[in-house]
Amino acid sequence: MGINILGMGSYVPEQKLKNDDFIRFVETNDEWIRTRTGIVERPMAGWEPTWYMGCQAAKKAISAAGIDPADIGLVISCCATADFHTPSMASIIQNDVGAANAGAFDLNAACTGFVYALDTARRFLETDDEMKYTLIVANESLSKFLDFTDRGSCILFGDGAAAAIVEKSDKLFSSALRSDGSGAGLLCARALNTAEEIRTEAPADFKDSFPELRLHKLFQNGKEVYKFATQALPKSFELAAEKKGITKDDIDWFIPHQANIRIIETAAKKLGVSMDRFIVTLDHYGNTSSASIPLALNEGIEKGLIKRGQKLALIGFGAGLTYGGIILEY
Ligand code: UT7
Repeated sequence: MGINILGMGSYVPEQKLKNDDFIRFVETNDEWIRTRTGIVERPMAGWEPTWYMGCQAAKKAISAAGIDPADIGLVISCCATADFHTPSMASIIQNDVGAANAGAFDLNAACTGFVYALDTARRFLETDDEMKYTLIVANESLSKFLDFTDRGSCILFGDGAAAAIVEKSDKLFSSALRSDGSGAGLLCARALNTAEEIRTEAPADFKDSFPELRLHKLFQNGKEVYKFATQALPKSFELAAEKKGITKDDIDWFIPHQANIRIIETAAKKLGVSMDRFIVTLDHYGNTSSASIPLALNEGIEKGLIKRGQKLALIGFGAGLTYGGIILEY
């Protein structure tokens, strides 16, 4: 069984930061950022909570799909930058959009979140006869995590949300999800520490290989993540493709995670696919983590590039380190 993407919607914050705006925080320049990453500007939430962006995108997706929110059986929010440890973003969105009959949970697979969520949604739809629609919302505010003194990371990210209503269908679908947790410390942000009042000595053999970090601030080993990414993107496609005997020539559009134009170009070269068949939005959105693939997908649809019946390859990688691919017919 496959899925049909019935409708999509997106929301990006009003505030846009251009490369030169970062001169206020770190020693950098437009030329370096453009040539090393391909990013020109990125939206950054000034006042918007992440859940608000998710709700706006979700309402647009519901409207584009033309469905009654009461018929949504499940809300999945993929989010690595939730406003709250609890409740889930999904529950807040479920209430706001009026999905009165839905279950709701968050899924954190970092930048690969939308790929994981689509695959998860398909499995729920397949095994629950009564479930008509699943709402997937990818919403992220990387800006709230950023260390604005680290020029190697703060210039890379942006904020935004994109959502999709999906339903059962017999269209082509293939997926492959992977994780390599040996790289967990290469891209991370610490959330909680033991309270000082009840802290005890760790046993001598306890190993914590994560870097000492300021709570809630993003750490990235850019070079190592770059190496991983250039392997993970083509592999994500190949793993999903070989399950169904699909080749690169069957694919109309590749929609990769938007982190760095050099990563996408290297992946395209490894796959032997022209960049003309890649949707690229990172110049104006930066890296919006799990929102980057659905933002690019929605933009491709809205621009009329992606058409019904075409075959798409959604390929992602991110913290975890996670990676994965989905091939589907739009
Ligand atoms: O979804 C999350 C996934 N994350 C990623 O995909 C990130 C993957 N990594 C990358 O995209 C790249 O590694 C970066 C864009 C983060 C860095 O690019 P790079 O080509 O690997 O640069 P580098 O780290 O080797 O740095 C080269 C030089 C250094 O200066 P020195 O040591 O040669 O004097 C850096 O300090 O560039 C310097 N540099 C900067 N200069 C101006 C680093 N950041 C900046 C900056 N502006 N913003």
